[in-house]
Order: sequence, then structure tokens, then C-alpha cells
Amino acid sequence: MSHNTQKKPVIAVVGAGPGIGEAVARRFVAEGFVVALLARTEDKLQTMATGIDNDHGKGTARYYITDLRHEDSVKSSFASIKAELGAVNVLVYNAGARRVNGRSILDTSSEEFENFTKINLFGAFWSTKCVLPDMLASGKGTILYTGATGGLRGSAGLSSFSPGKFGLRSLSQIVTREYQEKGIHAAHIIVDTPVDGKLIGGWSRRQWQRQGEPEKLEDVESHLSQPADLAQIYWFLHTQPRSAWTQELDVRAQKVSMFSKL
Ligand SMILES: NC(=O)c1ccc[n+]([C@@H]2O[C@H](COP(=O)([O-])OP(=O)(O)OC[C@H]3O[C@@H](n4cnc5c(N)ncnc54)[C@H](OP(=O)(O)O)[C@@H]3O)[C@@H](O)[C@H]2O)c1
Repeated sequence: MSHNTQKKPVIAVVGAGPGIGEAVARRFVAEGFVVALLARTEDKLQTMATGIDNDHGKGTARYYITDLRHEDSVKSSFASIKAELGAVNVLVYNAGARRVNGRSILDTSSEEFENFTKINLFGAFWSTKCVLPDMLASGKGTILYTGATGGLRGSAGLSSFSPGKFGLRSLSQIVTREYQEKGIHAAHIIVDTPVDGKLIGGWSRRQWQRQGEPEKLEDVESHLSQPADLAQIYWFLHTQPRSAWTQELDVRAQKVSMFSKL
């Protein structure tokens, strides 16, 4: 049964959490999209979908419980999205898994390496495969991959994170090489900065307090990128004219130097 009776364009936010994921969802919904929110935790998804519906009208957000480490889970969610909302016009692959305090290779288990790489990379491959056929059939589609500094630099302590993010960057370039000519605009966004979400935002604030840097607490926006400001970039990429498509873009808050550890 269609839950998108007005046939609005559809965005799938894969890895929909309270940071970049929700902000991107809200940005596109404000422009007339319906959003499919994909993540593992039902209560968080439900709260997010209800909040978006309350702010933008009933039926603008639906959630799909998905574990990106499993191909069947990804396929089943995208099949439900197609049945309930219609073909996906914009895919944002936003999930990422890392430790805040990194560990050396010898202290990193194979299980963690596998699990995190599935989230950082395999889920993106599977999600891309799910949306491409319909995008190609309609001759257009946007696929945006959320990257990180770890996608460009292999820093100590990030062995279970960085290889997957490197791969994600490569995947984005390959999508471009294989499908751009057929109307698919893929872009990789290098988030080279801490984001003011729950995890890193909260951790940064605690660090500043511990280290006696209260001035940073009064000037948060120049140290932590705001999810809503980042979401503006995703919208900008999606709405670029065909004569001027960006394939990769980096972003950081004003006082964050190039190549942060994220
Ligand atoms: N936060 C930063 O400072 C920062 C800096 C640089 C780059 N980035 C990149 O930006 C992206 C978004 O970061 P964010 O912190 O703003 O996150 P977010 O959008 O708040 O949430 C991402 C969501 O991904 C979901 N996810 C994780 N593993 C999953 C799995 N196996 N299956 C399904 N969903 C899964 C999580 O929800 P569930 O746990 O409910 O599944 C999480 O809430 C990530 O790719 C990250 O690498 C972030």
C-alpha cells in the first residue's frame, strides 16, 4: 500500500541518527520530499519520524529497521521502501562506525574490523545496488556518501574505521565512472571536522571542560560543524545543475585545521 499518495520525491537516509542523518532528512523534507529513515534502533527511529511528521505533516517520514551489516536486511528495507513510498530518488549513505578512542591494530579484534567495515562500506555497496536500477530506469538520481578524514588519511588507532571509509570514497568514484553518463550524480562528502551531534559534540564539550577551555563552549560553531549546516551542503549537491556537478567536497568548522582525526 502506498504511503506516499502525493507522489513526493523519495530520499532514503541510511544511518539515520540524531546528527547529520536527521538534519539531512529534515532539509529534504522541508523541500517537499518524503523520507525513509534506516537504522537499527526502533525507539530512536520512531521519535525521529514522529518529530519530522509533527513539524512537516503526517506521512513525511517513515522508518525501516535495518542492520547494515546484513545484506538481506538492507534488501528487505529497500523493497519495503519501494512498495510503500516508491522508487528512491536520493540515497544518502550516512552510517559510520568507529571508536572515539582508537586502538592499535594488535588491540583491534577481527570481529570489530569486520563489523565496522560492513557498516562503513558494505552497507553502502548493498544500498547502492538497491537504488541504482530505478534511478537508471528514470535517467536520474543522486547518491551522497558521508565520508570522514579517515577516508583520506590512515591515522593511528583507526584500523577498524579508516579502511572502510577509504573504500567508501572509492565506491563513490566508481559509481560516477560507471553511471554518471546515465544520469546518476554521486558525491562523497569528506566531513573533516567534529560534528555537533550527541557522541562527538558531547565528548568535545566534556574535553573542553576538563582541559579548561571554556571559550570554546561559547564559540561552539567555529569548533563543531552543525548538522543543519552540513545538511545544507547535501541539498546543494543534490540541486546542482547537470553542467556543474561536484563529485567530492570537503568541509570543516572555521577553527578546525585540515585533516582532523575524524
Ligand atoms: N560525528 C562526527 O563528529 C563525524 C565526523 C566526521 C565524519 N562523520 C561521519 O558522519 C556520518 C554521520 O555521523 P553522525 O555522528 O552525525 O551520525 P548520525 O547521523 O547521528 O547517526 C548515524 C546512525 O547510523 C546508524 N547505524 C550505525 N550502525 C548501523 C548499522 N549497523 N545498521 C543500521 N544503522 C546503523 C546509527 O543508528 P543505530 O545505532 O540505531 O543503528 C546512527 O544513529 C558517519 O558516517 C561518520 O563517520 C561524523
